[in-house]
Amino acid sequence: MAMTVFELKDVHFSYLGKFPALAGIDITVEEGRNIAVIGANGSGKSTLLHLLNALIFADKGSCKFFGRELNEGLFREEDFSKAFRRAVGLVFQNPDVQLFCPTVREEIMFGPLHLGFDPKTILPMFDSITKVFGIEGLVDRMPHQLSIGEKRKVAMASVLISGPDILLLDEPTSGLDPKTSRDLIDLLKKHHESGKTTITATHDLHIIEEIADIIYVFDKNKTIIRYGDPHELLCDIKFLEENNLMHSHSHRHDGETHVHRHDHLMHDHAHS
Ligand SMILES: Nc1ncnc2c1ncn2[C@@H]1O[C@H](COP(=O)(O)OP(=O)(O)OP(=O)(O)O)[C@@H](O)[C@H]1O
Ligand SMILES: [Mg+2]
Repeated sequence: MAMTVFELKDVHFSYLGKFPALAGIDITVEEGRNIAVIGANGSGKSTLLHLLNALIFADKGSCKFFGRELNEGLFREEDFSKAFRRAVGLVFQNPDVQLFCPTVREEIMFGPLHLGFDPKTILPMFDSITKVFGIEGLVDRMPHQLSIGEKRKVAMASVLISGPDILLLDEPTSGLDPKTSRDLIDLLKKHHESGKTTITATHDLHIIEEIADIIYVFDKNKTIIRYGDPHELLCDIKFLEENNLMHSHSHRHDGETHVHRHDHLMHDHAHS
Protein backbone atom coordinates (compact mmCIF):
# COMPACT_ATOMS: atom_id res chain seq x y z
CA MET A 1 0.00 0.00 0.00
CA ALA A 2 1.22 3.49 -0.84
CA MET A 3 2.50 5.58 2.07
CA THR A 4 0.77 8.83 2.91
CA VAL A 5 3.16 11.73 2.25
CA PHE A 6 0.99 14.63 3.42
CA GLU A 7 -2.21 14.49 5.40
CA LEU A 8 -4.02 17.79 5.95
CA LYS A 9 -7.08 17.98 8.15
CA ASP A 10 -9.12 21.16 8.53
CA VAL A 11 -6.07 23.37 7.94
CA HIS A 12 -6.51 27.11 8.46
CA PHE A 13 -3.92 29.79 7.80
CA SER A 14 -4.07 33.61 7.78
CA TYR A 15 -1.25 36.01 6.94
CA LEU A 16 -0.47 38.32 9.88
CA GLY A 17 -3.46 36.81 11.61
CA LYS A 18 -5.87 38.84 9.51
CA PHE A 19 -5.65 37.89 5.82
CA PRO A 20 -7.22 34.44 5.47
CA ALA A 21 -5.50 32.25 2.88
CA LEU A 22 -6.54 28.68 3.75
CA ALA A 23 -9.90 27.96 5.39
CA GLY A 24 -10.46 24.34 6.35
CA ILE A 25 -8.37 22.35 3.87
CA ASP A 26 -8.48 18.55 3.81
CA ILE A 27 -6.04 16.85 1.45
CA THR A 28 -4.35 13.46 1.53
CA VAL A 29 -1.35 12.99 -0.75
CA GLU A 30 -0.18 9.45 -1.29
CA GLU A 31 3.28 8.58 -2.47
CA GLY A 32 3.59 8.56 -6.25
CA ARG A 33 0.45 10.61 -6.83
CA ASN A 34 0.45 13.61 -9.10
CA ILE A 35 -1.86 16.33 -7.99
CA ALA A 36 -2.93 19.52 -9.72
CA VAL A 37 -4.32 22.44 -7.75
CA ILE A 38 -6.34 25.01 -9.64
CA GLY A 39 -8.43 28.00 -8.65
CA ALA A 40 -8.88 31.71 -9.20
CA ASN A 41 -6.25 34.28 -8.21
CA GLY A 42 -5.94 34.61 -4.46
CA SER A 43 -7.71 31.32 -3.71
CA GLY A 44 -4.81 29.90 -1.65
CA LYS A 45 -2.82 27.72 -4.07
CA SER A 46 0.60 29.24 -3.37
CA THR A 47 -0.13 29.36 0.34
CA LEU A 48 -0.87 25.62 0.27
CA LEU A 49 2.48 24.91 -1.43
CA HIS A 50 4.31 27.10 1.10
CA LEU A 51 2.62 25.15 3.88
CA LEU A 52 3.61 21.82 2.30
CA ASN A 53 7.17 23.12 2.06
CA ALA A 54 7.05 24.07 5.76
CA LEU A 55 7.75 27.73 5.07
CA ILE A 56 4.62 28.48 7.09
CA PHE A 57 2.68 26.36 9.56
CA ALA A 58 -1.05 25.85 10.09
CA ASP A 59 -2.79 28.21 12.55
CA LYS A 60 -5.40 25.54 13.17
CA GLY A 61 -5.93 21.96 12.07
CA SER A 62 -3.26 19.41 11.31
CA CYS A 63 -0.64 18.99 8.56
CA LYS A 64 1.32 15.75 8.77
CA PHE A 65 4.31 14.60 6.75
CA PHE A 66 4.69 10.80 6.87
CA GLY A 67 2.65 10.87 10.06
CA ARG A 68 4.62 13.64 11.80
CA GLU A 69 2.93 16.93 12.61
CA LEU A 70 4.74 19.77 10.84
CA ASN A 71 5.53 22.59 13.24
CA GLU A 72 8.46 24.82 14.17
CA GLY A 73 9.52 22.48 16.96
CA LEU A 74 9.99 19.57 14.56
CA PHE A 75 12.28 21.65 12.35
CA ARG A 76 14.59 22.27 15.31
CA GLU A 77 15.47 18.57 15.00
CA GLU A 78 18.40 18.77 12.63
CA ASP A 79 18.00 15.23 11.26
CA PHE A 80 14.36 15.76 10.42
CA SER A 81 14.95 19.19 8.93
CA LYS A 82 17.73 17.89 6.69
CA ALA A 83 15.74 14.84 5.56
CA PHE A 84 12.67 17.01 4.86
CA ARG A 85 14.64 19.57 2.83
CA ARG A 86 16.22 16.77 0.84
CA ALA A 87 12.89 15.08 0.19
CA VAL A 88 10.74 18.09 -0.66
CA GLY A 89 11.54 20.74 -3.28
CA LEU A 90 9.49 23.83 -4.09
CA VAL A 91 9.77 25.90 -7.26
CA PHE A 92 8.29 29.29 -6.38
CA GLN A 93 5.71 31.10 -8.49
CA ASN A 94 7.96 34.16 -8.62
CA PRO A 95 11.54 33.19 -9.49
CA ASP A 96 12.85 36.47 -8.03
CA VAL A 97 11.92 35.18 -4.57
CA GLN A 98 13.97 32.07 -5.11
CA LEU A 99 17.13 33.25 -6.84
CA PHE A 100 19.71 34.87 -4.60
CA CYS A 101 23.22 33.72 -5.61
CA PRO A 102 25.60 35.95 -7.59
CA THR A 103 25.76 33.57 -10.57
CA VAL A 104 23.50 30.98 -12.17
CA ARG A 105 26.20 28.34 -11.57
CA GLU A 106 26.26 29.01 -7.81
CA GLU A 107 22.49 29.17 -7.74
CA ILE A 108 22.07 25.72 -9.25
CA MET A 109 24.85 24.19 -7.15
CA PHE A 110 23.62 25.73 -3.90
CA GLY A 111 20.95 23.08 -3.21
CA PRO A 112 23.06 19.94 -3.58
CA LEU A 113 26.05 21.53 -1.78
CA HIS A 114 23.85 22.62 1.09
CA LEU A 115 22.04 19.28 1.28
CA GLY A 116 25.33 17.45 1.71
CA PHE A 117 25.65 15.72 -1.67
CA ASP A 118 29.07 14.28 -2.45
CA PRO A 119 30.89 17.14 -4.28
CA LYS A 120 32.17 14.66 -6.89
CA THR A 121 28.62 13.89 -7.99
CA ILE A 122 27.47 17.51 -8.20
CA LEU A 123 29.36 18.49 -11.35
CA PRO A 124 27.84 15.76 -13.57
CA MET A 125 24.40 16.56 -12.09
CA PHE A 126 24.99 20.23 -12.90
CA ASP A 127 26.01 19.46 -16.49
CA SER A 128 23.01 17.24 -16.99
CA ILE A 129 20.37 19.61 -15.55
CA THR A 130 21.68 22.70 -17.38
CA LYS A 131 21.48 20.67 -20.59
CA VAL A 132 17.89 19.60 -19.86
CA PHE A 133 16.85 23.24 -19.58
CA GLY A 134 19.16 24.48 -22.35
CA ILE A 135 20.76 27.02 -20.01
CA GLU A 136 24.42 26.03 -20.42
CA GLY A 137 25.09 29.45 -21.94
CA LEU A 138 23.72 31.29 -18.90
CA VAL A 139 25.77 29.72 -16.13
CA ASP A 140 28.15 32.67 -15.66
CA ARG A 141 25.38 35.28 -15.77
CA MET A 142 23.79 37.01 -12.78
CA PRO A 143 20.32 35.52 -12.14
CA HIS A 144 18.64 38.89 -11.63
CA GLN A 145 19.74 40.04 -15.08
CA LEU A 146 17.96 37.23 -16.91
CA SER A 147 14.60 37.32 -18.67
CA ILE A 148 11.64 36.01 -16.69
CA GLY A 149 11.51 32.74 -18.65
CA GLU A 150 15.26 32.24 -18.21
CA LYS A 151 14.91 32.91 -14.48
CA ARG A 152 12.15 30.33 -14.29
CA LYS A 153 14.34 27.72 -15.97
CA VAL A 154 17.18 28.46 -13.54
CA ALA A 155 14.78 28.25 -10.58
CA MET A 156 13.45 24.93 -11.85
CA ALA A 157 16.95 23.54 -12.50
CA SER A 158 18.13 24.58 -9.03
CA VAL A 159 15.39 22.47 -7.42
CA LEU A 160 15.35 19.53 -9.83
CA ILE A 161 19.12 19.03 -9.69
CA SER A 162 18.77 17.52 -6.20
CA GLY A 163 16.10 15.07 -7.41
CA PRO A 164 13.52 15.63 -4.64
CA ASP A 165 11.06 12.76 -4.13
CA ILE A 166 8.28 15.28 -3.60
CA LEU A 167 8.15 18.16 -5.99
CA LEU A 168 5.99 21.23 -5.41
CA LEU A 169 5.56 23.42 -8.48
CA ASP A 170 3.88 26.82 -8.48
CA GLU A 171 2.76 27.82 -11.99
CA PRO A 172 5.69 26.00 -13.61
CA THR A 173 4.79 26.77 -17.23
CA SER A 174 3.97 30.43 -16.75
CA GLY A 175 6.22 32.57 -18.95
CA LEU A 176 7.84 29.60 -20.68
CA ASP A 177 7.93 29.40 -24.47
CA PRO A 178 5.98 26.47 -25.99
CA LYS A 179 9.05 24.30 -26.64
CA THR A 180 10.39 24.75 -23.11
CA SER A 181 6.94 24.11 -21.70
CA ARG A 182 6.75 20.85 -23.66
CA ASP A 183 10.22 19.78 -22.49
CA LEU A 184 9.25 20.52 -18.91
CA ILE A 185 6.10 18.42 -19.14
CA ASP A 186 8.12 15.54 -20.59
CA LEU A 187 10.57 15.91 -17.74
CA LEU A 188 7.74 15.81 -15.20
CA LYS A 189 6.36 12.68 -16.83
CA LYS A 190 9.74 10.98 -16.32
CA HIS A 191 9.69 12.18 -12.72
CA HIS A 192 6.27 10.54 -12.32
CA GLU A 193 7.34 7.30 -13.98
CA SER A 194 10.10 6.93 -11.42
CA GLY A 195 7.42 6.85 -8.69
CA LYS A 196 7.89 10.38 -7.39
CA THR A 197 5.17 12.67 -6.07
CA THR A 198 4.28 16.03 -7.59
CA ILE A 199 1.87 18.77 -6.56
CA THR A 200 1.43 21.48 -9.16
CA ALA A 201 -0.52 24.72 -8.87
CA THR A 202 -1.43 25.96 -12.31
CA HIS A 203 -3.75 28.11 -14.38
CA ASP A 204 -2.73 26.19 -17.48
CA LEU A 205 -5.60 23.71 -17.90
CA HIS A 206 -4.04 22.26 -21.06
CA ILE A 207 -1.25 20.56 -19.15
CA ILE A 208 -3.28 19.05 -16.33
CA GLU A 209 -4.28 15.74 -17.84
CA GLU A 210 -0.65 15.06 -18.70
CA ILE A 211 0.77 15.90 -15.32
CA ALA A 212 -1.95 14.99 -12.83
CA ASP A 213 -4.06 12.01 -11.84
CA ILE A 214 -6.11 13.99 -9.35
CA ILE A 215 -7.19 17.61 -9.29
CA TYR A 216 -8.25 19.90 -6.44
CA VAL A 217 -10.15 23.12 -7.05
CA PHE A 218 -9.86 26.04 -4.65
CA ASP A 219 -12.44 28.82 -4.59
CA LYS A 220 -12.54 32.43 -3.45
CA ASN A 221 -13.38 31.35 0.10
CA LYS A 222 -9.95 29.63 0.28
CA THR A 223 -11.56 26.20 0.51
CA ILE A 224 -11.62 23.15 -1.73
CA ILE A 225 -14.89 23.11 -3.61
CA ARG A 226 -14.25 20.05 -5.67
CA TYR A 227 -11.70 17.33 -6.31
CA GLY A 228 -11.48 14.24 -8.43
CA ASP A 229 -10.63 12.90 -11.85
CA PRO A 230 -9.04 15.64 -14.00
CA HIS A 231 -10.77 14.67 -17.25
CA GLU A 232 -14.22 14.58 -15.72
CA LEU A 233 -13.76 17.89 -13.97
CA LEU A 234 -12.23 19.65 -16.96
CA CYS A 235 -15.15 18.61 -19.13
CA ASP A 236 -17.57 20.39 -16.80
CA ILE A 237 -17.64 23.69 -18.70
CA LYS A 238 -20.32 25.25 -16.51
CA PHE A 239 -18.32 24.57 -13.37
CA LEU A 240 -15.13 25.96 -14.92
CA GLU A 241 -16.85 29.13 -16.06
CA GLU A 242 -18.46 29.70 -12.67
CA ASN A 243 -15.08 29.46 -10.98
CA ASN A 244 -12.97 31.78 -13.18
CA LEU A 245 -11.21 28.80 -14.69
CA MET A 246 -12.21 29.34 -18.29
CA HIS A 247 -12.46 32.44 -20.34
CA SER A 248 -13.96 33.70 -23.56
CA HIS A 249 -12.04 35.77 -26.05
CA SER A 250 -13.09 37.60 -29.16
CA HIS A 251 -11.36 37.88 -32.50
CA ARG A 252 -12.22 39.01 -35.98
CA HIS A 253 -12.59 36.93 -39.09
CA ASP A 254 -14.72 37.30 -42.22
CA GLY A 255 -15.31 40.91 -41.17
CA GLU A 256 -17.18 39.86 -38.00
CA THR A 257 -16.21 39.67 -34.37
CA HIS A 258 -16.70 36.23 -32.82
CA VAL A 259 -16.58 35.36 -29.16
CA HIS A 260 -15.01 32.01 -28.46
CA ARG A 261 -14.76 29.93 -25.37
CA HIS A 262 -11.27 28.97 -24.46
CA ASP A 263 -11.29 25.63 -22.74
CA HIS A 264 -8.48 23.16 -22.34
CA LEU A 265 -9.72 20.41 -24.60
CA MET A 266 -8.15 20.47 -28.05
CA HIS A 267 -8.07 24.27 -27.79
CA ASP A 268 -11.70 23.86 -28.79
CA HIS A 269 -13.08 26.92 -30.55
CA ALA A 270 -16.77 26.50 -29.92
CA HIS A 271 -18.79 29.40 -31.35
CA SER A 272 -21.04 31.02 -28.83
N1 LIG B 1 2.36 37.84 2.11
C1 LIG B 1 1.06 38.00 2.22
N2 LIG B 1 0.51 38.86 3.12
C2 LIG B 1 -0.83 39.00 3.25
N3 LIG B 1 -1.72 38.33 2.52
C3 LIG B 1 -1.25 37.47 1.60
C4 LIG B 1 0.14 37.26 1.40
N4 LIG B 1 0.30 36.35 0.42
C5 LIG B 1 -0.95 36.00 0.02
N5 LIG B 1 -1.89 36.68 0.73
C6 LIG B 1 -3.34 36.53 0.61
O1 LIG B 1 -3.66 35.17 0.79
C7 LIG B 1 -4.68 34.74 -0.12
C8 LIG B 1 -4.18 33.54 -0.91
O2 LIG B 1 -3.07 33.93 -1.69
P1 LIG B 1 -2.25 32.92 -2.59
O3 LIG B 1 -1.00 33.62 -3.02
O4 LIG B 1 -2.11 31.64 -1.86
O5 LIG B 1 -3.26 32.71 -3.83
P2 LIG B 1 -3.06 31.93 -5.20
O6 LIG B 1 -4.23 31.01 -5.33
O7 LIG B 1 -1.70 31.35 -5.27
O8 LIG B 1 -3.23 33.11 -6.27
P3 LIG B 1 -2.55 33.33 -7.72
O9 LIG B 1 -3.36 32.51 -8.70
O10 LIG B 1 -2.72 34.79 -7.94
O11 LIG B 1 -1.11 32.92 -7.66
C9 LIG B 1 -5.00 35.96 -0.98
O12 LIG B 1 -6.20 36.52 -0.49
C10 LIG B 1 -3.80 36.90 -0.77
O13 LIG B 1 -4.25 38.25 -0.83
MG1 LIG C 1 -0.12 31.67 -6.53
